[in-house]
Amino acid sequence: MTTALSERPANPVVGRAVPHESADLHVTGTALYTDDLLPRMPGALHAWPLQAPHAHARVRALRTDGALAVPGVVRVLTGADVPGLNDAGVRRDEPLFPDEVMYFGHAVCWVLGETLEAARLGADAVEVSYEPLPSLLTLTEAIEAQSFQGAQPIVARGDAAAGLARASHRFSGAIEFGGQEHFYLETHAAIAHLDEAGQVFVHSSTQHPSETQEIVAQVLGLRSHDVTVQCLRMGGGFGGKEWQPHGLAAVAALGAVLTGRPVRMRLNRTQDMTMTGKRHPFHATWEVGFDDEGRLEALRATLTSDGGWCLDLSEPVLQRALCHVDNAYFVPDVELAGRVALTNKTSQTAFRGFGGPQGMLVLEDILGRCAPLLGIDATELRRRNLYAPGQHTPYGQEVRHAERLRLVVDEVSERAGIDARRASVADFNAAHPHRKRGLALTPVKFGISFNHTAYNQAGALVHVYKDGSVLINHGGTEMGQGLHTKMRQVAATALGVPLGLVRLAPTRTDKVPNTSATAASTGADLNGGAVKDACEQIRARLLPVAADSLGADASDVRFSDGSVTAVGTAASVPWPVLVQEAYLRRTQLSAAGYYRTAGLHWDPIRMQGEPFKYFAYGAAVSELEVDGFTGMYRFLRTDIVHDAGDSLSPLVDLGQIEGGFVQGTGWLTLEELRWNTSDGEERGRLITQSASTYKLPSFSEMPLELHVHMLERATEDGVVYGSKAVGEPPLMLAFSIREALRHAVAAFGPAGHAVELACPSTPEAVFWAIETARQAGGA
Ligand code: MTE
Ligand code: MOS
Repeated sequence: MTTALSERPANPVVGRAVPHESADLHVTGTALYTDDLLPRMPGALHAWPLQAPHAHARVRALRTDGALAVPGVVRVLTGADVPGLNDAGVRRDEPLFPDEVMYFGHAVCWVLGETLEAARLGADAVEVSYEPLPSLLTLTEAIEAQSFQGAQPIVARGDAAAGLARASHRFSGAIEFGGQEHFYLETHAAIAHLDEAGQVFVHSSTQHPSETQEIVAQVLGLRSHDVTVQCLRMGGGFGGKEWQPHGLAAVAALGAVLTGRPVRMRLNRTQDMTMTGKRHPFHATWEVGFDDEGRLEALRATLTSDGGWCLDLSEPVLQRALCHVDNAYFVPDVELAGRVALTNKTSQTAFRGFGGPQGMLVLEDILGRCAPLLGIDATELRRRNLYAPGQHTPYGQEVRHAERLRLVVDEVSERAGIDARRASVADFNAAHPHRKRGLALTPVKFGISFNHTAYNQAGALVHVYKDGSVLINHGGTEMGQGLHTKMRQVAATALGVPLGLVRLAPTRTDKVPNTSATAASTGADLNGGAVKDACEQIRARLLPVAADSLGADASDVRFSDGSVTAVGTAASVPWPVLVQEAYLRRTQLSAAGYYRTAGLHWDPIRMQGEPFKYFAYGAAVSELEVDGFTGMYRFLRTDIVHDAGDSLSPLVDLGQIEGGFVQGTGWLTLEELRWNTSDGEERGRLITQSASTYKLPSFSEMPLELHVHMLERATEDGVVYGSKAVGEPPLMLAFSIREALRHAVAAFGPAGHAVELACPSTPEAVFWAIETARQAGGA
């Protein structure tokens, strides 16, 4: 079963370096996104939110008459209009139209207008009286007030106290680090309209169409079969569209039901940034113990994430964080406690890595800080602690293929020429008092599968038409990551037809039901398994027809490259001829495929089990140069070796590795979310609410040299065509950048100085760390 899933036939279409299936459309501006459908919806109304100007307040009264008097305003949607449940989530803690404003910018009602301008002016004319309430904004404030939400899980193994007592070197500390705005190019968008008999149809920019469907039904008081959600494609999701599209789609759907007209909603950039959730910021306190060789003995830590105003995905994000604190390192005795703070901010949500990066940052930061205190080079310290085959994670799962960790670390060291460059960096630093270079290697181990076992299933629907052309549907969504490209390659491989014969239809809940979010990097694994299953069902039905036509035994028939042949004969039947013949013989040419990941189990109470099908591995070496006067830095070179299994689509995966790395670098070095934390009127307002104040990585922040290599001979048994998920893991390769910064900063201080580096490690943060390093040296 497993080998059949991972085995590739001769001459497969998977593994070919084909461009993204929509590349032509992307670069010519003809790819359609949700809001591009607006011109096809005559009479559509536009929705505009009224955003509250308080971090926390009770809504005393809401008067809409003024808005209705504005020309072009058609309706104001309030809580009183909701026929079903006034809640935008599945946790029932997320009122769609709130009586209590929970963060600055929270939408209290929505105005529908003939034009966007009319709706905007209408929102200005709504009168709301608020009773301001006390608010909590920072993690420090929330922890002091003991303001938490949801479960407080603990991952533990052995006896952390005993391990710490046993350790010959003990250190303790704390770190707090920031969140990240998704900044997908396409902001949140939905268009809803009614088909005949009240059937609700919603176009939504969503990573989770089935859940969008459920929430729309929940708000409207309908059943799932009354609502269809379609996602053409997204202009980026990055986790930001896993949960948060639902309420927005529900507002559009509510408007459509109440007015009978299509309703379009698209947040502008500032609305998107001030209303929707981001990566969770975290705070962590820790105690760590090492033996004399620098081997980790024990770790005890408490991680507190800033969940914002409601739970959203905060609990699973925290679980993944706790399951990734170990990253690539074996820690014998561990106790990791987690909790989610409730603050008056946007509801923080999924973001590439889903808490994994935050968990890993804690231990990478510890290793970077402690290396000088132990007198061991940081890269050597990391090497010494890498998992070895046979060892288990703190949550009880064996680290399968742990030898690949060493392999990627060794290979990237060699490709980067790390030994020679360490020496030249030292020479450079000795010669330059005001500029210092840093060089660091960091590994990645990232668990693939949803922790929540039930999500690890997928469906597909494949049609072969009489002319031999193939149309596939699957449950995954396309957000730029190339999932559709891979699915076409999987179908072409499984049916043995050229890629050009396979077309893909947009993701819709009435084609493939009960789908999981396209998330946790599992899109290709899960949907690929389902597409392959559907294709194989069809192929099995074609097989006797082919055997007859070829006069061969069924076991000798081969499907490849658009024709069907039999081993040992020259006979061949073109695919369309075979399909036509099968149709005439009344053969079903369409199939629903299904896949569920085998062998997973997870106990979320004990936080133990085997939640992951496998681990994705990678390692990066980065070198950079820091200016001692300003803290400014330049990224000189990064080398990456990443394990994508046998890649389904090498060009797509290369893009994922590069993009993930750059996005991680942005999170760790540039992107800084600031809220107004004063006691003034604007307390709680997001100050960095557009690209002018929120710095994203661009070409100038790319390393001057970036070398990406995919690990070879990396077949992953038990995954579709031997591949591995690649969407999220590369983001964490960016730790090499932050650790290289730490290395460079250390060069401004005396040997043995432990560098504490704020995160994001902006030039400003680096500057202050340099000042501290200089003072430690008495300079
Ligand atoms: N790549 C692009 N271009 N755009 C995106 O929005 N999202 C990332 C990753 N790569 C994203 C992306 C995230 S958060 C995930 S979980 C995966 O893609 C999801 O897709 P997959 O499961 O098909 O890899
Ligand atoms: Mo990705 S954060 O799992 O959508």
